[in-house]
Amino acid sequence: MSIADVAVIGGSGFYTFIEEPEEHVVETPYGAPSAPVSVGEVAGRRVAFLPRHGPHHEHPPHAIPYRANLWALRSLGVRQVLAPCAVGGLSESVAPGDVVVPDQLVDRTFRRIPSYVETGAVHLPFADPYCPRVSGAVLAADPGVKAGGAMVVIEGPRFSTRAESRWYADQGGTLINMTGAPEAALAREMRMCYSAIALVTDMDAGAESGAGVGQEEVFALFRANLERLTGLLTAAVAGLADPAGCTCSTWAEGVELTYAIPGDT
Ligand code: ADE
Repeated sequence: MSIADVAVIGGSGFYTFIEEPEEHVVETPYGAPSAPVSVGEVAGRRVAFLPRHGPHHEHPPHAIPYRANLWALRSLGVRQVLAPCAVGGLSESVAPGDVVVPDQLVDRTFRRIPSYVETGAVHLPFADPYCPRVSGAVLAADPGVKAGGAMVVIEGPRFSTRAESRWYADQGGTLINMTGAPEAALAREMRMCYSAIALVTDMDAGAESGAGVGQEEVFALFRANLERLTGLLTAAVAGLADPAGCTCSTWAEGVELTYAIPGDT
């Protein structure tokens, strides 16, 4: 029997979600996850919560133990992951305060371990990086949530220059953040359904005027929207469709995986 079947990975300023949680300290072959995993009941489901940056924001985006985090959640039985995150806006179609469910990802990170595959030929299908069932539940939970857009993930921890920001926008980016990769790909390698829920905290550095983006505005906007995000996540959990048979979990049928998925035989 699984300990939890849904997970929420909290972003900047999002350190608690479960009331009166059971705490699970999970050891993984990839070291310790960002924090002990809190588990409890939300909307009638067993939900695990993991603060991505650690309980006191001790893990900066480029040093988050991504592999340990996704492995730990899967080892508890999780099949569906909701991943809220703070993002900058690159396009006029979004504004600070918007919540967006992106449908594409551009990975511009360069010094993270992006995969569980360390040997052999295992090539993840990733044309559509987010789960349609989980994204659909988030969109159905609140008609004000915007659908679609490409999220560019930079290495960080610094923000982009104006030229970098304009370049990402010119290339078709809608949103920009520092944690969406390799998290989404690792979730799929663990055969879990995963969707990002992006809260726009700023308009990045591409704007012609102003000082560019700073960390205070990002954290303040995220804090100001925590209650709203928590409500959205709770409603989305309540509306999640059954993950059985979803392509996020069936992609590896017929492929001989060269790494172990905990709980899979
Ligand atoms: N997270 C929030 N805002 C961001 C930005 N402008 N760039 C990268 N990551 C972010």
